[in-house]
Amino acid sequence: MQYTSSWRSPSNIALIKYWGKHGIQLPRNPSLSFTLSVSHTDMTITVIPDVGNPQINVLYNGVEQASFVPKISSYFQLLKSHFKWIGSSHITIDSINTFPHGAGIASSASAMSALALCLYDIHAQINDGHKQNENWRLYVSEIARLGSGSASRSLFPTAALWGKAKGIGESNDEFAIPWKENISSIYQTYHDTILIVSASEKKVSSSAGHNLMTDLPYAKTRYKEAESNLLNLTDIMRDENKVNEFISVCESEALQLHALMLMGKNPYVLIEPNTLSIIKEVWNFRRETNTPVCFTLDAGPNVHLLYPDKYKIEVIDFIQSRLKKYCINEMIIWDKVGEGPVRLNQ
Ligand code: PMV
Repeated sequence: MQYTSSWRSPSNIALIKYWGKHGIQLPRNPSLSFTLSVSHTDMTITVIPDVGNPQINVLYNGVEQASFVPKISSYFQLLKSHFKWIGSSHITIDSINTFPHGAGIASSASAMSALALCLYDIHAQINDGHKQNENWRLYVSEIARLGSGSASRSLFPTAALWGKAKGIGESNDEFAIPWKENISSIYQTYHDTILIVSASEKKVSSSAGHNLMTDLPYAKTRYKEAESNLLNLTDIMRDENKVNEFISVCESEALQLHALMLMGKNPYVLIEPNTLSIIKEVWNFRRETNTPVCFTLDAGPNVHLLYPDKYKIEVIDFIQSRLKKYCINEMIIWDKVGEGPVRLNQ
């Protein structure tokens, strides 16, 4: 018997950054993200259970990727108690991304959430369609988190919150929770235009980055600051008239993330000269025109420009005339807040 499942799952961009972990992908501070739409992974997995010779094959863009197998194999070890069949099956994972792999556009978020969705689905098929309940996304979020922390946030429409935050009763470290209903309509159609400063493989993995927090003297202060920024931002985003406050928290979070990388015992720099040029252009443009466009950064040199839909004409013009020149091969991903994962097979 062979089982198949296909899902499209999006990447997400953190507004409040998760940086620092403990245990198995448990966060040191809560984080909040927009779910994207254009940047996504399409994945199909095929499972043949109970084979004499269990095997994992990983294909990316149709090409066998032996180097991905060890990471997937350790992930599957963690999932043995959830999916009993996982260690005795022949599993083939075939995926494509709509964005450059490893360029700091949280490819692990879309890939690991797609994988968690497919595994959950296969599990239901093997167990004769055990019913999905209302909370299935929370469970899949937990499965995704075990693969990559940020992946836990890709399961929900518009926005997600992950990690225990004081005063947010349902928040917790195990899985993310939906956050769409808690934000004003202006953020439901927000744009995230990703300016690709470099599309090459990241030099430092995010795991190494999280580890850097372990003996950083400023770590405790950062975790407190992140939680306070998160509580502040959740208030700000309820109100459509607080976009200036939104900008200030988002940009501060982006710069703090990169400042932490600079402060480690083995410091490293992921931003490039063109990243800084774009940041300065954004600040100048905002001063000149008052257009509420801001930037955030992931763990890489590419710049995410965030802006409300009603300003898209001005911002697109700004990007074309003043920012495109800083992008490698003028590469830009015109992304937007999205509705979360979509099943591709029936
Ligand atoms: O999910 P990981 O372990 O790849 O960590 C992601 C960390 C950041 O992308 C830098 C921030 C975040 O919250 O997504």
